[in-house]
Amino acid sequence: MDKIQRYDHVLKTAKTVIDGYSMDEIGNMAILSSILKSEFKEWVFCGFYRVVKESLLEIGPYQGDVLACGHIDFNRGVCGESARTQKTVIVDDVSLFPGYISCDDQTVSEIVIPVIKDEQLIAVLDIDGDQVGQFDDTDQSYLEKMVRLI
Ligand code: SME
Repeated sequence: MDKIQRYDHVLKTAKTVIDGYSMDEIGNMAILSSILKSEFKEWVFCGFYRVVKESLLEIGPYQGDVLACGHIDFNRGVCGESARTQKTVIVDDVSLFPGYISCDDQTVSEIVIPVIKDEQLIAVLDIDGDQVGQFDDTDQSYLEKMVRLI
């Protein structure tokens, strides 16, 4: 299956489960990170950082063999940039990103998507890859659709 077919499959599954389960945001985040990582096993990390107070993210539901850092200030890292700008950030090579926060040795590229609910930023979805330039417009478009389910 190509990437579009994989995302179509994941999006369909996620819609069915989230509509059927009727959970709060944290439950939905747990389900989404699990469904995504089950399909995209090549990803190093896939999970959410939640906004817990002004300008501070805290680790939320995630999947991956990574001891994720617990807190990220909006002024730091790729997650912080996405939270601050409320825009998706794609980093082809994390070694070139000023202020990048490393949680493991395998990650080479990253995409972070803001999760906005009722016009408020509630979290970001962070995905790490082990290849340079792993994420593109297709990932952005599908992942932005996925987080709207939350
Ligand atoms: N690399 C992220 C930190 C979180 S980990 O990737 C799990 C960043 O720079 O914001």
